[in-house]
Amino acid sequence: MELLRDTDIDPAPLAGKRVAILGYGNQGRAQALNLHDSGIDVVVGLRGGSGSSNEAEASGLTTALLEQAVASADVVMMLAPDEIHASLYREIEPNVREGAALGFSHGLSVRFALVEPRADLDLFMIAPKGPGTALRSLYKQGKGMIAVWAVAQDSTGKARDIAVAYGQAIGCGRAGLIASTFAEEAEADLFNEQAVVWGAVPELLIAGFETLVAGGVSPELAYLECVGELKLIAELIDARGIAGMREVISNTAELGALLGGKRIVDDSVRARMAEVLAEVRAGKFAAELSREEADGYPRLEKAREENRRTLLEETYRRLSDDKG
Ligand SMILES: NC(=O)c1ccc[n+]([C@@H]2O[C@H](COP(=O)([O-])OP(=O)(O)OC[C@H]3O[C@@H](n4cnc5c(N)ncnc54)[C@H](OP(=O)(O)O)[C@@H]3O)[C@@H](O)[C@H]2O)c1
Repeated sequence: MELLRDTDIDPAPLAGKRVAILGYGNQGRAQALNLHDSGIDVVVGLRGGSGSSNEAEASGLTTALLEQAVASADVVMMLAPDEIHASLYREIEPNVREGAALGFSHGLSVRFALVEPRADLDLFMIAPKGPGTALRSLYKQGKGMIAVWAVAQDSTGKARDIAVAYGQAIGCGRAGLIASTFAEEAEADLFNEQAVVWGAVPELLIAGFETLVAGGVSPELAYLECVGELKLIAELIDARGIAGMREVISNTAELGALLGGKRIVDDSVRARMAEVLAEVRAGKFAAELSREEADGYPRLEKAREENRRTLLEETYRRLSDDKG
C-alpha cells in the first residue's frame, strides 16, 4: 500500500490554478477554507439564492454561481450531496474547461456511473476519512486527517500530481494519503455505513438498551452501560488498537468480552455482512439512494421523526440536561 506524506508531495501542480468548490456544506466548507489558508485560489460555486454565500464570503472566500465558478476553474471539486451529483454534473458539464480536473471526495458517483465525465477531463478522488468539521479543526491545529486518493481518468498525464497536491493543500498529507480506486473506496465506505460503524453499531446499542430495560433495569443505567461507554472504548481503540484496549480493561470486562462478543457477532452476522457487500457491489444501495432523492427523502424523514421519539432518546436528553 502506497502512503504519501507531505514530504513526498510536490505542491507545484496546483500553483497558480483556480479550484472551484461546488457546495458549501460539511466537506465543501472545510476543504474551501483549508485550500484558501494553503494559498490556493478558491471560488465556491453555489446555486442561485443559496443561503451559504453570505457565510462563505464572511469567511473571506469568493463565491459565484455554479456555472461561472466552473467556467473559471482548472480544478472542479464536487462537494454537493452524492445523490445530486448526476443532475449537478449534467448542469455544469458545458461550462467545465477543456482538460480541467474533476474531483470527488467519495467514489460512489463514478463507481456506479451516476456521473460519466467527458473524456478530456482528469478524474480524481481525495476522500478524507472523517467529517468536514474535523478536517477543518485538525488543519487549524497544524494536523491533518488521513485521506484516500485515486485517479480514474488521466487525460492530461497530470491527474495523479493534481490529486495528491490537492490532498496536501487540504492538510491530509500531514497524516497520509492512501492510494486506492474509486470502486474500492466506494464499496468499503458503503459497506461500513450499513454493516459496521454507522448501521450496525447504533442498532447494537439500541438492542442492548432495550434488553436491559425489558429486564427491569432503569433506562438511565441501561443508557450509561450500553451507550455511554462507547466513547471510552472508541478512545482506547484509537490510542492502543483493539488488542491494546483489551489489555487495559479489567479482567472481568476482558473475560466477559471474550465469552460474549463472538456469541453475539457469530457466523450468521458475517454471512449477512457478506450479503451487504455483495448488494453494495451490485449497485443496489446506489439505486436506493437515487430513488430516495427522487421521492423527496420519505424514508429518511420518517426515520428521523421516529428516532427522536424513543425512550432511549428521552433518556439521553434527561441525562444531558442533568450534565448541564
Ligand atoms: N459529510 C462528510 O463528513 C463527508 C466525509 C467524507 C466525504 N464526504 C463526501 O463529500 C461530498 C459532500 O458531502 P457533504 O456531506 O459535505 O454534503 P452536504 O453537506 O450535504 O452539502 C451541502 C451543500 O451542497 C449544496 N447543494 C445541495 N443540493 C444542491 C443542488 N441541487 N445544487 C447545487 N448545490 C447543492 C448545498 O447548497 P446550499 O448551500 O445552497 O444549501 C450545500 O452548500 C459527498 O460526495 C460525500 O460523500 C462527506
